[in-house]
Amino acid sequence: MDGARPLIEMKDIVRNFGGLRAVDHVDLEVWSGECLALVGENGAGKSTLIKVLTGIYRADEGPILMDGNEVTIQSRQEAKALGIEAVYQELALVDTLDASANVFLGNELTIPILGRFFHILDNRKMYREAQNVLKERLGINLEGRKDPVFNLSGGERQSIAIARAIYQEAKVLIMDEPTSSLGVEEAAKTFSLVHKMKAAGVAVIWISHNLDHVFTVADRILVLRGGKRVGVRKRNETTKTEIVGLIVGEVVEVA
Ligand SMILES: Nc1ncnc2c1ncn2[C@@H]1O[C@H](COP(=O)(O)OP(=O)(O)OP(=O)(O)O)[C@@H](O)[C@H]1O
Ligand SMILES: [Mg+2]
Repeated sequence: MDGARPLIEMKDIVRNFGGLRAVDHVDLEVWSGECLALVGENGAGKSTLIKVLTGIYRADEGPILMDGNEVTIQSRQEAKALGIEAVYQELALVDTLDASANVFLGNELTIPILGRFFHILDNRKMYREAQNVLKERLGINLEGRKDPVFNLSGGERQSIAIARAIYQEAKVLIMDEPTSSLGVEEAAKTFSLVHKMKAAGVAVIWISHNLDHVFTVADRILVLRGGKRVGVRKRNETTKTEIVGLIVGEVVEVA
C-alpha cells in the first residue's frame, strides 16, 4: 500500500454552510484494497466530506484526484460513472421493489423489441444475475424472494445494496454507519463483505461511531474534529484509547 499511488486523493478540502465551516482543509487518501475508517464526534464533518466525494455537495476549495488525475464530481451520476458508490442501510433501496430490481436500479437490463426502437425490462435475466451476485459473491440466499425488499431484514437489505455496488463494479465503496442497526451476526456478515470487497481491489470508506467495529474492519483510521483532520493512524499501530483522545481532543487515561 505504501509507495503506490492512492486511488482517491481529496486535497485540502473546504466546505462551508453559510458561516459554518463543516470541512476545514481536510486531506483524505484511500488506496485500492484497503478499508479506511472515518471517525469523529457528531457534527465533525464526516458525512459532509463523503458527500463531496459522492457528488451530493461541491467542495468550496480543494481538488479530488483519482489515480493521480484531477476529476470533477458535481453530481451523483458523475460519482457513479467514476465507480464511487455509497451504501446507506436506510436510504439505499426502493422499498416497493424486489431484490433484483434494486440491484439493477438505474441500470436495468432490457430486451430490444420491434428492432431497436423499444426496449422492455428483462426481468428474468435481472432476477438470475441478482441471485448469482447475492449467492456466489455474498453468500446470501434470496432464491424465490420476489416480494418488496420492505419485508427483508436490515442485513439482507444491506447485502442487496452491496450487490448493486459489486454489479456496478464500484472502485470505491462508502458505508456511512453500516452496522448501527445490525445484530451481532449481521454485523459480522458485513465485516466479511468488506473483506471480500477489499480482496476484489475495492477501496472501502467506513464511517462509524462504533470503535469496536472500526478496529475490526479498518486498516487505517482518519479522525476529524470540528471539521479538521486531527490524525490518521494505522489500525495495528494505535489503540482505542489514542483514537478516543483524538476524537474528543484530550488525552484519555487508560482505565
Ligand atoms: N446541509 C447542511 N446545511 C447546513 N449545515 C450543515 C449541513 N450539513 C451539515 N451541516 C453542518 O455541518 C457540520 C458537519 O456535519 P456532518 O453531517 O458532516 O457531521 P458528521 O460528522 O457526519 O456527524 P454525525 O456523526 O452526527 O453523522 C455540522 O455542524 C452540521 O450541522
Ligand atoms: Mg454523519
